[in-house]
Amino acid sequence: MIARSVALQDEDDREITSLLGAYIAFATGWLVLSTAVGLIVAFKFAYPEFLTSPYFSFGRLRPIHTNDTFYAWASIALVGLVFYVACKTCATRLYSIKLGWVTLALFNVAAALGTVALDLGFNNGDQEYREWIWWIEALLLIAILTAAYNLIMTVARRKDDDIYLSNWYTMGGIIWTLILSTVAFIPLYQYGLGQVAVQGFFMHNAVGMWFTPLTLGLFYYVLPKLLNRPIYSYALGVLAFWTNLVFYPIIGAHHFIFSPLPWWLQTLAIVFSVAMLVPVWAGSANFLLTMRGRWEQVRRSYALPFVFVGVLGYLLGSTQGTFEAFRSLQAVWHLTNFTVGHSHLTMYTFITFGIWGGIYALVPRATGRAPSLTLAGLHFWLATVGMAIYILALSIGGTIQGLVWMSGAPFIDSVTAIAPDWLWRSIGGSLMFISHLVFAWNVWFMLSGGERVISRVEPISEVA
Ligand code: HEM
Ligand code: HEM
Repeated sequence: MIARSVALQDEDDREITSLLGAYIAFATGWLVLSTAVGLIVAFKFAYPEFLTSPYFSFGRLRPIHTNDTFYAWASIALVGLVFYVACKTCATRLYSIKLGWVTLALFNVAAALGTVALDLGFNNGDQEYREWIWWIEALLLIAILTAAYNLIMTVARRKDDDIYLSNWYTMGGIIWTLILSTVAFIPLYQYGLGQVAVQGFFMHNAVGMWFTPLTLGLFYYVLPKLLNRPIYSYALGVLAFWTNLVFYPIIGAHHFIFSPLPWWLQTLAIVFSVAMLVPVWAGSANFLLTMRGRWEQVRRSYALPFVFVGVLGYLLGSTQGTFEAFRSLQAVWHLTNFTVGHSHLTMYTFITFGIWGGIYALVPRATGRAPSLTLAGLHFWLATVGMAIYILALSIGGTIQGLVWMSGAPFIDSVTAIAPDWLWRSIGGSLMFISHLVFAWNVWFMLSGGERVISRVEPISEVA
């Protein structure tokens, strides 16, 4: 009887490990492709004559970069990790492994078709982060729907009465995203001011109610596991969850300050942007206090430094966002490259580093193969230094750009003023891109069969 249950457990482990491996392998492929495109776009700012064919035009490549980093890299990686976390925290197998493979196929088909369609010039106009044509968007929506069903049914089969905090965040995020994507489809909101309001709602909630809760849910699992100590405060985590849910949906209009949207709606968005300090500081404090006194362990680990930078990215990027929403600062920064710096401080430093931390923590545990500490270190430092150069250059350049516009000088003066920063962004971006190649090598090593080298895997406690 015991032998049979161990054999079943082994079978479950094998199934979820190969599913996780496939999600991470595809996501990594998309990271390399989408950031190669991002790098080409970056070089186009410094060298406008670089690659002038329509297939390489800025207008086509930019949405390929943003949609693929969002829905192919970050979404596929997060869904794979979230499935794994749900199984481990609920001490059960995934509700349907087959459906898990279907979800992965849908994400990949949507991303492949979306990329080709955008490059051929077929798009949904200038609706940022939803430029894929409607039926490709529908495939993405079905992918999220199937992931939601699988996740919720898995958690429903948990052995304990309580739902572990990670699953609150991940289930909350996935349910909210279904609502969000459905609203974004309503025909009535595809024109006029309604479209502007819904675009703000979609844009900010895609980052705040999809990537953010999934990544925070991952932190709530990975940090206690790696540090072998409980999360500092469960109550603080619950407070952050509910305040995030109450404040986030209202702040989308801060993307359209000084627009024809009603003034009161813009003001409400600013007030709630300030309120967002509650979940952001509560969540970040919870993570940092969980790490307190364990800095030596963080330094020696190959997963924890990524999680640490991810937490700092969340704290700094979101706090920056609060200030960015004020009318006085919007007057300088709106439409400048400062916003692009904020996008990368959050989507790169918080989400992407967070995912890397999750992958380095969980994949070796699942496959028994860990990357070399040196290569993980090389990945970490190239990405960190590159990202710091990228963000500093655009924050300084974007501020100068805004001030030149406000001075009433000719537009070309702002271009000349920011040109050196665009070159620095390309240099930082090149380091980031090289780090992705090192990461891809590490992923290949962790996933390729062969000898199990469990002794090099970081110790992870067995209690959730
Ligand atoms: C090698 C790494 C990367 C490079 C060189 C890069 C480069 C770029 C460039 C040149 C743009 C266009 C900016 C503009 O229109 O002015 C951009 C936009 C964007 N990228 Fe990246 N990127 C990288 C990685 C990533 C990653 C990993 C993500 C997300 C996970 C991401 C998310 C975004 C977003 C959201 C925007 C739109 C920014 C906005 O409109 O404010 N990027 N990126
Ligand atoms: C929670 C606190 C946050 C606040 C108050 C905030 C505020 C803002 C504001 C005011 C803008 C508009 C800038 C402009 O157009 O002038 C913006 C843009 C943006 N934010 Fe945040 N942010 C927060 C957190 C985040 C997080 C956690 C992410 C990613 C996970 C994120 C991703 C982005 C992106 C990608 C854009 C660019 C949108 C575009 O293309 O126009 N933000 N944010």
